[in-house]
Amino acid sequence: MGRQGTPLGIDVGGSGIKGAPVDLAQGALADKRVKIPTPRPATPDAVAEVIDQLVDIFAEQTGDSPIGVTLPAIVLRGRVRSAANIDPSWVDTDAEELIKRHTGRAVTVLNDADAAGLAELHYGAAQGEHGLIILTTLGTGIGSALIYDGVLVPNSELGHLEIDGYDAEKRAASSAKDREDLSWDEYVDRLQRYYSRLELLFSPDLIVVGGGISKDADQFLPRLKLHAPIVPAQLRNQAGIIGAARRAVDLATAKG
Ligand code: BGC
Repeated sequence: MGRQGTPLGIDVGGSGIKGAPVDLAQGALADKRVKIPTPRPATPDAVAEVIDQLVDIFAEQTGDSPIGVTLPAIVLRGRVRSAANIDPSWVDTDAEELIKRHTGRAVTVLNDADAAGLAELHYGAAQGEHGLIILTTLGTGIGSALIYDGVLVPNSELGHLEIDGYDAEKRAASSAKDREDLSWDEYVDRLQRYYSRLELLFSPDLIVVGGGISKDADQFLPRLKLHAPIVPAQLRNQAGIIGAARRAVDLATAKG
């Protein structure tokens, strides 16, 4: 057995790769988060190098404990299956194997929105909630986490629902608001269309909305007309890190 420490969560995003040790009892960062710019191009090896730097930075606190890493992609048993907003060279990469090779540590890799959903379930806006919870992240794309009675159904990819002939995230991600310079009124219309469809298809008990724009939730959430309650995420930009560390530890514990 190796030296026990605090698990490390790492969130790989388009502009930065962020990491911090996580206190799983509190659902909070156990140390100051470190952010390193995402290399360009963000190829698997270049990203794994940055992850290795983060692992080194926190080596003292984290010891041999598990590492959880998020990617903005479908991740099936550690292997990347899509690349909507990341470098296409990730597709078919065994990300767990790659990062293990670079860091020498056991790693769990999961979809970024799935990690955020788990964090909100255990420590945030969906804590103690049962039934079907859908978390969506509004950012460059739209990420989703589908959780039923506390169990994550991974890789739901509900940002890619086709609505009015468009990939939903192209119209309703917060990047669309910026790109098209939409007013809040116009953006609320897009979100209404998106969440109504989501509700029609899944009848969730609760919808949680994360991503950077959720800090302005007052501007749009109260204006959406839906059956299910729709609430802002609580863990903000820490959700990916916290959820990744939690998943890594849960899986390590399950393996025994
Ligand atoms: C990707 C998802 C990801 C989401 C948020 C989408 O474009 O397909 O895998 O979760 O963006 O980053």
